[in-house]
Amino acid sequence: MRIVFAAGEAQPFIKSGGLADVIGSLPKSLAQKGHECYVILPKYADLKMSDRLEYVTNFYLWVGWRRCYCGVFKAVVDGVTYFFVDNEQYFKRPGLYGYDDDNERFAFYDFAVLECLSRLDIMPDILSLHDWQAAMIAPLYKEKYCYYNFYGGVKVTFTIHNIAYQGKCDPSLLQDLFGLDNYLYYNGNVRNDGCMNMMKAAIVYADAVTTVSPTYANEILTDAYGEGLQSILSMRRHDLYGILNGIDYDLINPATDPDIAFNFDATDVKEKKRENKMALQREVGLPENPDIPLIGIVTRLTWQKGLDLIINQFEELMNRDVQVVVLGAGDAKYEEPLKGFAGYHNEKFSLNLKYDAGLAQRIYASSDIFLMPSLFEPCGLSQMMALRYGSVPIVRETGGLKDSVESFNEYDQTGTGFSFTNYNAHEMMQIIDYALRIYNEHRDMWDGIVQRAMASKLDWDQSSDEYLRVFESLLY
Ligand code: GLC
Repeated sequence: MRIVFAAGEAQPFIKSGGLADVIGSLPKSLAQKGHECYVILPKYADLKMSDRLEYVTNFYLWVGWRRCYCGVFKAVVDGVTYFFVDNEQYFKRPGLYGYDDDNERFAFYDFAVLECLSRLDIMPDILSLHDWQAAMIAPLYKEKYCYYNFYGGVKVTFTIHNIAYQGKCDPSLLQDLFGLDNYLYYNGNVRNDGCMNMMKAAIVYADAVTTVSPTYANEILTDAYGEGLQSILSMRRHDLYGILNGIDYDLINPATDPDIAFNFDATDVKEKKRENKMALQREVGLPENPDIPLIGIVTRLTWQKGLDLIINQFEELMNRDVQVVVLGAGDAKYEEPLKGFAGYHNEKFSLNLKYDAGLAQRIYASSDIFLMPSLFEPCGLSQMMALRYGSVPIVRETGGLKDSVESFNEYDQTGTGFSFTNYNAHEMMQIIDYALRIYNEHRDMWDGIVQRAMASKLDWDQSSDEYLRVFESLLY
Protein backbone atom coordinates (compact mmCIF):
# COMPACT_ATOMS: atom_id res chain seq x y z
CA MET A 1 0.00 0.00 0.00
CA ARG A 2 1.25 3.51 -0.72
CA ILE A 3 0.57 6.06 2.01
CA VAL A 4 1.32 9.78 2.01
CA PHE A 5 1.29 11.58 5.36
CA ALA A 6 0.71 15.31 5.65
CA ALA A 7 1.40 17.02 8.96
CA GLY A 8 3.00 20.18 10.30
CA GLU A 9 5.89 18.41 12.03
CA ALA A 10 7.85 15.18 12.19
CA GLN A 11 10.87 13.87 14.02
CA PRO A 12 13.82 13.78 13.46
CA PHE A 13 13.42 17.05 11.54
CA ILE A 14 11.27 19.35 13.64
CA LYS A 15 9.13 19.07 16.75
CA SER A 16 6.83 21.18 18.85
CA GLY A 17 4.80 18.38 20.41
CA GLY A 18 3.81 14.73 20.36
CA LEU A 19 2.51 15.01 16.78
CA ALA A 20 6.14 15.07 15.61
CA ASP A 21 6.90 11.83 17.45
CA VAL A 22 3.92 10.12 15.85
CA ILE A 23 4.75 11.27 12.31
CA GLY A 24 8.36 10.28 12.97
CA SER A 25 7.48 6.73 14.00
CA LEU A 26 4.14 5.50 12.57
CA PRO A 27 5.33 5.71 8.92
CA LYS A 28 8.54 3.93 9.93
CA SER A 29 6.55 1.09 11.44
CA LEU A 30 4.37 0.82 8.31
CA ALA A 31 7.46 0.89 6.10
CA GLN A 32 8.91 -2.00 8.10
CA LYS A 33 5.75 -3.93 7.30
CA GLY A 34 6.44 -3.47 3.61
CA HIS A 35 4.36 -0.38 2.79
CA GLU A 36 5.57 2.57 0.74
CA CYS A 37 5.46 5.65 2.98
CA TYR A 38 6.00 9.33 2.28
CA VAL A 39 5.80 12.32 4.60
CA ILE A 40 5.42 15.87 3.27
CA LEU A 41 6.52 18.74 5.52
CA PRO A 42 7.07 22.47 5.15
CA LYS A 43 10.73 23.36 4.71
CA TYR A 44 11.09 25.36 7.92
CA ALA A 45 14.23 27.39 8.58
CA ASP A 46 14.82 25.45 11.81
CA LEU A 47 14.86 21.95 10.26
CA LYS A 48 17.42 19.65 11.81
CA MET A 49 19.65 17.53 9.54
CA SER A 50 19.13 20.11 6.79
CA ASP A 51 22.46 19.08 5.29
CA ARG A 52 20.84 15.76 4.39
CA LEU A 53 18.20 17.39 2.20
CA GLU A 54 18.57 17.04 -1.50
CA TYR A 55 16.91 19.29 -4.08
CA VAL A 56 14.29 17.58 -6.27
CA THR A 57 12.32 20.06 -8.36
CA ASN A 58 10.29 23.26 -8.32
CA PHE A 59 7.01 24.52 -9.74
CA TYR A 60 4.47 27.28 -9.24
CA LEU A 61 1.06 26.88 -7.66
CA TRP A 62 -1.94 29.03 -6.79
CA VAL A 63 -3.02 29.88 -3.26
CA GLY A 64 -6.31 31.55 -4.10
CA TRP A 65 -5.17 34.39 -6.38
CA ARG A 66 -1.52 34.22 -5.23
CA ARG A 67 0.97 32.62 -7.57
CA CYS A 68 3.60 31.00 -5.37
CA TYR A 69 6.95 29.36 -5.90
CA CYS A 70 7.22 25.84 -4.50
CA GLY A 71 10.57 24.08 -4.30
CA VAL A 72 10.79 20.44 -3.27
CA PHE A 73 13.58 18.80 -1.27
CA LYS A 74 13.91 15.22 -0.13
CA ALA A 75 15.52 12.99 2.49
CA VAL A 76 15.14 9.29 3.26
CA VAL A 77 15.19 8.13 6.89
CA ASP A 78 14.46 4.62 8.15
CA GLY A 79 12.88 3.57 4.86
CA VAL A 80 10.50 6.56 4.79
CA THR A 81 10.83 9.28 2.14
CA TYR A 82 10.37 12.82 3.43
CA PHE A 83 9.60 15.67 1.04
CA PHE A 84 9.95 19.30 2.10
CA VAL A 85 8.02 22.01 0.32
CA ASP A 86 9.95 25.23 0.10
CA ASN A 87 8.70 28.79 0.00
CA GLU A 88 10.89 31.28 1.82
CA GLN A 89 8.22 33.92 2.22
CA TYR A 90 6.14 31.47 4.24
CA PHE A 91 8.62 29.23 5.98
CA LYS A 92 12.01 30.88 6.22
CA ARG A 93 11.41 32.09 9.77
CA PRO A 94 12.04 30.73 13.27
CA GLY A 95 9.77 28.10 14.78
CA LEU A 96 6.71 26.39 13.35
CA TYR A 97 3.35 27.98 14.11
CA GLY A 98 1.99 31.03 15.85
CA TYR A 99 2.31 33.65 13.10
CA ASP A 100 -0.49 36.01 12.09
CA ASP A 101 -0.46 34.58 8.58
CA ASP A 102 -0.53 30.91 9.63
CA ASN A 103 -3.73 30.31 7.67
CA GLU A 104 -2.08 31.51 4.49
CA ARG A 105 1.16 29.65 5.22
CA PHE A 106 -0.65 26.36 5.65
CA ALA A 107 -2.99 26.99 2.74
CA PHE A 108 0.20 27.10 0.69
CA TYR A 109 1.34 23.89 2.34
CA ASP A 110 -2.01 22.17 1.62
CA PHE A 111 -1.87 23.03 -2.08
CA ALA A 112 1.79 22.03 -2.20
CA VAL A 113 0.96 18.57 -0.82
CA LEU A 114 -1.70 18.00 -3.48
CA GLU A 115 0.58 19.23 -6.25
CA CYS A 116 3.36 16.93 -5.05
CA LEU A 117 1.16 13.86 -5.46
CA SER A 118 0.97 14.27 -9.23
CA ARG A 119 4.23 16.11 -9.92
CA LEU A 120 6.37 13.67 -7.95
CA ASP A 121 4.32 10.76 -9.22
CA ILE A 122 3.44 9.49 -5.76
CA MET A 123 -0.33 9.19 -6.11
CA PRO A 124 -1.17 7.18 -2.97
CA ASP A 125 -3.79 4.69 -1.94
CA ILE A 126 -4.19 6.58 1.33
CA LEU A 127 -3.66 10.24 2.04
CA SER A 128 -3.28 10.50 5.81
CA LEU A 129 -3.87 14.04 7.13
CA HIS A 130 -3.06 15.22 10.65
CA ASP A 131 -4.48 18.14 12.63
CA TRP A 132 -5.62 21.53 11.34
CA GLN A 133 -2.46 22.33 9.37
CA ALA A 134 -3.31 19.58 6.88
CA ALA A 135 -7.09 19.54 7.36
CA MET A 136 -8.10 21.60 4.31
CA ILE A 137 -6.41 19.07 2.03
CA ALA A 138 -9.53 16.93 2.51
CA PRO A 139 -12.05 19.38 1.00
CA LEU A 140 -9.51 20.58 -1.58
CA TYR A 141 -8.98 17.04 -2.78
CA LYS A 142 -12.63 16.04 -2.76
CA GLU A 143 -13.96 19.28 -4.26
CA LYS A 144 -11.20 20.02 -6.77
CA TYR A 145 -8.30 17.73 -7.33
CA CYS A 146 -10.16 14.44 -7.56
CA TYR A 147 -12.05 15.74 -10.61
CA TYR A 148 -9.65 17.60 -12.81
CA ASN A 149 -6.63 15.44 -12.16
CA PHE A 150 -8.44 12.16 -12.68
CA TYR A 151 -7.10 10.64 -9.53
CA GLY A 152 -10.31 10.18 -7.70
CA GLY A 153 -9.26 6.88 -6.21
CA VAL A 154 -7.29 8.24 -3.27
CA LYS A 155 -8.86 7.59 0.12
CA VAL A 156 -8.42 10.34 2.67
CA THR A 157 -8.10 9.86 6.42
CA PHE A 158 -7.95 12.60 8.99
CA THR A 159 -6.37 12.15 12.41
CA ILE A 160 -7.23 14.36 15.36
CA HIS A 161 -4.28 14.77 17.70
CA ASN A 162 -5.73 17.66 19.59
CA ILE A 163 -9.22 18.98 19.05
CA ALA A 164 -8.39 22.16 20.96
CA TYR A 165 -6.70 23.56 17.84
CA GLN A 166 -9.22 23.55 15.00
CA GLY A 167 -8.09 26.19 12.52
CA LYS A 168 -11.02 28.54 13.05
CA CYS A 169 -10.96 31.49 10.67
CA ASP A 170 -12.94 34.06 8.75
CA PRO A 171 -15.31 32.61 6.08
CA SER A 172 -13.84 34.93 3.45
CA LEU A 173 -10.65 32.81 3.53
CA LEU A 174 -12.49 29.89 1.94
CA GLN A 175 -12.42 31.66 -1.41
CA ASP A 176 -9.48 33.95 -0.85
CA LEU A 177 -6.99 31.27 0.22
CA PHE A 178 -8.45 27.99 -0.91
CA GLY A 179 -10.32 29.09 -4.03
CA LEU A 180 -13.37 27.11 -2.91
CA ASP A 181 -16.90 28.27 -3.50
CA ASN A 182 -18.79 30.02 -0.70
CA TYR A 183 -21.65 27.55 -0.90
CA LEU A 184 -19.46 25.14 1.07
CA TYR A 185 -19.68 27.60 3.90
CA TYR A 186 -23.41 28.14 3.58
CA ASN A 187 -24.22 24.44 3.35
CA GLY A 188 -22.25 23.89 6.56
CA ASN A 189 -19.46 21.70 5.19
CA VAL A 190 -16.70 24.01 6.39
CA ARG A 191 -18.70 26.04 8.90
CA ASN A 192 -18.97 25.60 12.63
CA ASP A 193 -20.46 27.97 15.12
CA GLY A 194 -20.45 30.99 12.82
CA CYS A 195 -16.95 30.75 11.46
CA MET A 196 -14.96 28.70 9.02
CA ASN A 197 -13.43 25.68 10.70
CA MET A 198 -10.73 23.61 9.03
CA MET A 199 -11.00 20.63 11.36
CA LYS A 200 -14.76 20.45 10.85
CA ALA A 201 -14.15 20.47 7.09
CA ALA A 202 -11.76 17.53 7.38
CA ILE A 203 -14.23 15.60 9.54
CA VAL A 204 -16.94 16.14 6.91
CA TYR A 205 -14.81 15.23 3.90
CA ALA A 206 -12.45 12.51 5.11
CA ASP A 207 -13.33 8.90 4.29
CA ALA A 208 -12.42 7.98 7.86
CA VAL A 209 -11.53 9.96 10.96
CA THR A 210 -9.15 8.64 13.54
CA THR A 211 -7.91 9.92 16.84
CA VAL A 212 -5.07 8.88 19.05
CA SER A 213 -6.71 6.73 21.73
CA PRO A 214 -9.95 4.76 22.13
CA THR A 215 -10.99 6.69 25.22
CA TYR A 216 -10.44 10.06 23.53
CA ALA A 217 -12.52 8.84 20.57
CA ASN A 218 -15.43 8.43 22.98
CA GLU A 219 -14.72 11.60 24.92
CA ILE A 220 -14.81 13.90 21.87
CA LEU A 221 -18.40 12.83 21.21
CA THR A 222 -19.40 14.58 24.44
CA ASP A 223 -20.05 18.25 25.17
CA ALA A 224 -17.29 18.25 27.76
CA TYR A 225 -14.50 17.27 25.36
CA GLY A 226 -15.84 17.89 21.85
CA GLU A 227 -14.87 21.58 21.74
CA GLY A 228 -17.93 22.31 19.61
CA LEU A 229 -17.31 19.48 17.14
CA GLN A 230 -19.20 16.79 19.09
CA SER A 231 -22.26 16.86 16.83
CA ILE A 232 -20.43 16.46 13.55
CA LEU A 233 -18.26 13.77 15.13
CA SER A 234 -21.37 11.98 16.34
CA MET A 235 -22.76 12.06 12.82
CA ARG A 236 -19.55 10.39 11.65
CA ARG A 237 -19.14 8.05 14.60
CA HIS A 238 -19.33 4.94 12.41
CA ASP A 239 -16.22 6.16 10.60
CA LEU A 240 -14.43 7.31 13.75
CA TYR A 241 -11.65 5.13 15.16
CA GLY A 242 -9.55 5.55 18.29
CA ILE A 243 -6.09 4.05 17.81
CA LEU A 244 -3.59 4.37 20.62
CA ASN A 245 -0.28 5.93 19.58
CA GLY A 246 2.87 3.93 20.06
CA ILE A 247 6.37 5.10 20.83
CA ASP A 248 9.53 4.16 18.96
CA TYR A 249 11.08 1.42 21.09
CA ASP A 250 14.40 1.72 19.23
CA LEU A 251 14.81 5.35 20.22
CA ILE A 252 13.08 5.26 23.60
CA ASN A 253 15.15 2.58 25.26
CA PRO A 254 16.84 2.85 28.67
CA ALA A 255 19.30 0.11 27.71
CA THR A 256 20.82 2.15 24.88
CA ASP A 257 19.81 5.78 25.53
CA PRO A 258 23.00 7.88 25.12
CA ASP A 259 21.51 10.79 27.11
CA ILE A 260 21.18 9.04 30.47
CA ALA A 261 23.96 8.53 33.02
CA PHE A 262 23.54 4.77 33.55
CA ASN A 263 21.85 2.50 31.04
CA PHE A 264 19.63 -0.23 32.41
CA ASP A 265 16.89 -2.73 31.70
CA ALA A 266 14.30 -4.52 33.81
CA THR A 267 16.91 -6.77 35.44
CA ASP A 268 18.97 -3.99 37.02
CA VAL A 269 16.50 -1.10 37.16
CA LYS A 270 16.50 -1.09 40.95
CA GLU A 271 20.17 -0.28 41.45
CA LYS A 272 20.57 1.77 38.29
CA LYS A 273 17.63 4.01 39.06
CA ARG A 274 19.31 4.94 42.36
CA GLU A 275 22.52 5.81 40.53
CA ASN A 276 20.66 7.76 37.86
CA LYS A 277 18.74 9.54 40.58
CA MET A 278 21.91 10.73 42.30
CA ALA A 279 23.36 11.88 38.99
CA LEU A 280 20.21 13.87 38.26
CA GLN A 281 20.15 15.36 41.76
CA ARG A 282 23.69 16.61 41.15
CA GLU A 283 22.74 17.94 37.73
CA VAL A 284 19.66 19.90 38.83
CA GLY A 285 20.98 21.03 42.21
CA LEU A 286 18.96 18.89 44.62
CA PRO A 287 20.47 17.21 47.71
CA GLU A 288 21.82 13.77 46.83
CA ASN A 289 19.70 11.06 48.34
CA PRO A 290 18.91 7.81 46.53
CA ASP A 291 16.17 6.83 49.00
CA ILE A 292 13.89 9.82 48.68
CA PRO A 293 11.01 9.36 46.21
CA LEU A 294 11.64 11.63 43.24
CA ILE A 295 8.64 12.92 41.28
CA GLY A 296 9.27 13.97 37.69
CA ILE A 297 7.06 16.31 35.63
CA VAL A 298 7.97 16.89 31.96
CA THR A 299 5.39 18.94 30.13
CA ARG A 300 4.32 21.98 28.20
CA LEU A 301 3.10 24.36 30.92
CA THR A 302 -0.43 24.80 29.62
CA TRP A 303 -3.91 24.33 31.01
CA GLN A 304 -4.31 20.99 29.24
CA LYS A 305 -1.65 19.33 31.36
CA GLY A 306 -3.21 19.70 34.82
CA LEU A 307 -0.92 22.46 36.09
CA ASP A 308 -3.83 23.97 38.02
CA LEU A 309 -4.03 20.85 40.18
CA ILE A 310 -0.28 20.73 40.70
CA ILE A 311 -0.02 24.37 41.72
CA ASN A 312 -3.07 24.05 44.00
CA GLN A 313 -1.46 21.20 45.93
CA PHE A 314 2.17 22.22 45.67
CA GLU A 315 2.58 23.43 49.26
CA GLU A 316 0.93 20.26 50.48
CA LEU A 317 3.28 18.18 48.36
CA MET A 318 6.27 20.04 49.77
CA ASN A 319 5.18 18.85 53.25
CA ARG A 320 5.90 15.29 52.18
CA ASP A 321 9.31 13.66 52.14
CA VAL A 322 9.79 13.95 48.37
CA GLN A 323 11.76 15.75 45.70
CA VAL A 324 10.13 17.22 42.60
CA VAL A 325 11.76 18.04 39.25
CA VAL A 326 9.83 20.04 36.66
CA LEU A 327 11.01 20.44 33.07
CA GLY A 328 9.10 22.44 30.48
CA ALA A 329 8.06 25.92 29.45
CA GLY A 330 4.80 27.63 28.65
CA ASP A 331 2.27 30.06 30.05
CA ALA A 332 3.35 32.76 32.52
CA LYS A 333 0.25 31.86 34.51
CA TYR A 334 1.99 28.62 35.50
CA GLU A 335 5.64 29.60 35.23
CA GLU A 336 5.31 32.45 37.75
CA PRO A 337 3.84 30.50 40.70
CA LEU A 338 6.29 27.68 40.05
CA LYS A 339 9.15 30.19 40.20
CA GLY A 340 7.78 31.32 43.54
CA PHE A 341 7.78 27.75 44.91
CA ALA A 342 11.27 27.17 43.56
CA GLY A 343 12.51 30.19 45.50
CA TYR A 344 11.67 28.89 48.93
CA HIS A 345 11.70 25.11 48.42
CA ASN A 346 15.08 24.81 46.77
CA GLU A 347 15.98 21.77 48.91
CA LYS A 348 13.10 19.80 47.45
CA PHE A 349 12.12 21.35 44.15
CA SER A 350 14.10 21.90 40.97
CA LEU A 351 12.44 24.03 38.28
CA ASN A 352 13.80 23.92 34.73
CA LEU A 353 11.84 26.30 32.52
CA LYS A 354 13.02 25.11 29.12
CA TYR A 355 12.79 22.30 26.61
CA ASP A 356 15.74 19.94 26.81
CA ALA A 357 15.31 16.51 25.24
CA GLY A 358 18.35 15.05 27.00
CA LEU A 359 17.28 16.23 30.44
CA ALA A 360 13.80 14.86 29.75
CA GLN A 361 15.28 11.38 29.22
CA ARG A 362 17.34 11.70 32.40
CA ILE A 363 14.19 12.59 34.34
CA TYR A 364 12.38 9.51 33.02
CA ALA A 365 15.39 7.39 33.95
CA SER A 366 15.88 8.87 37.42
CA SER A 367 12.44 9.58 38.79
CA ASP A 368 10.41 7.05 40.78
CA ILE A 369 7.09 8.69 39.96
CA PHE A 370 5.96 10.54 36.84
CA LEU A 371 3.08 12.93 37.47
CA MET A 372 0.70 13.75 34.58
CA PRO A 373 -2.74 14.83 35.87
CA SER A 374 -4.04 16.20 32.53
CA LEU A 375 -7.41 17.88 32.16
CA PHE A 376 -7.62 16.19 28.78
CA GLU A 377 -5.06 14.10 26.93
CA PRO A 378 -5.77 12.75 23.43
CA CYS A 379 -2.99 10.20 23.86
CA GLY A 380 0.03 11.48 25.73
CA LEU A 381 3.45 10.05 25.02
CA SER A 382 5.36 11.07 28.15
CA GLN A 383 3.57 8.55 30.36
CA MET A 384 4.53 5.83 27.87
CA MET A 385 8.17 6.86 27.98
CA ALA A 386 7.99 6.97 31.80
CA LEU A 387 6.61 3.41 31.86
CA ARG A 388 9.42 2.20 29.65
CA TYR A 389 12.00 3.83 31.95
CA GLY A 390 10.44 2.36 35.10
CA SER A 391 9.10 5.67 36.39
CA VAL A 392 5.66 4.86 37.76
CA PRO A 393 3.03 7.19 36.29
CA ILE A 394 0.36 8.93 38.33
CA VAL A 395 -2.27 10.08 35.82
CA ARG A 396 -5.81 11.29 35.56
CA GLU A 397 -8.09 8.78 33.88
CA THR A 398 -8.65 10.61 30.61
CA GLY A 399 -7.89 9.91 26.95
CA GLY A 400 -4.73 7.96 26.26
CA LEU A 401 -3.64 8.16 29.90
CA LYS A 402 -6.50 5.86 30.76
CA ASP A 403 -5.68 3.52 27.88
CA SER A 404 -1.96 3.20 28.58
CA VAL A 405 -1.68 3.14 32.38
CA GLU A 406 -3.34 0.35 34.30
CA SER A 407 -4.20 1.42 37.84
CA PHE A 408 -2.45 -0.43 40.67
CA ASN A 409 -4.61 -2.90 42.57
CA GLU A 410 -2.95 -4.02 45.78
CA TYR A 411 -5.26 -7.00 46.28
CA ASP A 412 -4.40 -8.84 43.11
CA GLN A 413 -1.05 -7.10 42.56
CA THR A 414 -1.78 -5.82 39.09
CA GLY A 415 -1.30 -2.47 37.46
CA THR A 416 1.47 -0.32 36.03
CA GLY A 417 0.76 3.02 37.73
CA PHE A 418 -1.74 5.04 39.74
CA SER A 419 -4.74 6.97 38.53
CA PHE A 420 -7.62 9.13 39.73
CA THR A 421 -10.92 9.96 38.11
CA ASN A 422 -12.06 13.52 38.69
CA TYR A 423 -10.24 16.71 37.81
CA ASN A 424 -9.85 17.56 41.47
CA ALA A 425 -6.66 18.61 43.25
CA HIS A 426 -7.47 16.78 46.49
CA GLU A 427 -8.23 13.58 44.67
CA MET A 428 -4.84 13.88 42.97
CA MET A 429 -3.13 14.48 46.32
CA GLN A 430 -4.81 11.43 47.84
CA ILE A 431 -3.51 9.19 45.10
CA ILE A 432 -0.01 10.70 45.40
CA ASP A 433 -0.12 9.90 49.14
CA TYR A 434 -1.23 6.37 48.38
CA ALA A 435 1.62 5.91 45.91
CA LEU A 436 4.12 7.30 48.43
CA ARG A 437 2.84 4.88 51.06
CA ILE A 438 3.38 1.91 48.75
CA TYR A 439 6.83 3.26 47.86
CA ASN A 440 7.88 3.81 51.48
CA GLU A 441 6.21 0.87 53.23
CA HIS A 442 5.80 -1.88 50.64
CA ARG A 443 8.89 -1.78 48.52
CA ASP A 444 8.29 -5.27 47.15
CA MET A 445 4.91 -4.17 45.80
CA TRP A 446 6.52 -1.07 44.32
CA ASP A 447 9.17 -3.12 42.59
CA GLY A 448 6.40 -5.25 41.11
CA ILE A 449 4.73 -2.13 39.68
CA VAL A 450 8.03 -1.02 38.15
CA GLN A 451 8.51 -4.44 36.55
CA ARG A 452 5.01 -4.46 35.08
CA ALA A 453 5.42 -0.84 33.90
CA MET A 454 8.61 -1.72 32.06
CA ALA A 455 6.95 -4.77 30.52
CA SER A 456 4.08 -2.68 29.03
CA LYS A 457 4.01 -3.10 25.29
CA LEU A 458 3.34 0.31 23.84
CA ASP A 459 5.37 0.28 20.65
CA TRP A 460 3.85 0.73 17.18
CA ASP A 461 3.57 -2.91 16.27
CA GLN A 462 -0.07 -3.41 17.20
CA SER A 463 -1.21 0.17 16.57
CA SER A 464 0.18 0.35 13.06
CA ASP A 465 -1.78 -2.84 12.30
CA GLU A 466 -4.90 -1.06 13.46
CA TYR A 467 -4.17 1.83 11.07
CA LEU A 468 -3.73 -0.71 8.31
CA ARG A 469 -7.08 -2.29 9.10
CA VAL A 470 -8.77 1.11 8.79
CA PHE A 471 -6.92 1.86 5.54
CA GLU A 472 -7.79 -1.54 4.10
CA SER A 473 -11.45 -1.15 5.02
CA LEU A 474 -11.51 1.94 2.79
CA LEU A 475 -9.73 0.34 -0.13
CA TYR A 476 -11.18 -3.12 -0.55
C1 GLC B 1 -1.12 16.05 20.89
C2 GLC B 1 -1.88 15.59 22.14
C3 GLC B 1 -1.17 14.42 22.83
C4 GLC B 1 -0.84 13.33 21.79
C5 GLC B 1 -0.05 13.92 20.65
C6 GLC B 1 0.30 12.90 19.58
O1 GLC B 1 0.07 16.69 21.27
O2 GLC B 1 -2.03 16.66 23.06
O3 GLC B 1 -2.01 13.87 23.82
O4 GLC B 1 -0.07 12.33 22.41
O5 GLC B 1 -0.81 14.95 20.03
O6 GLC B 1 -0.83 12.27 19.04
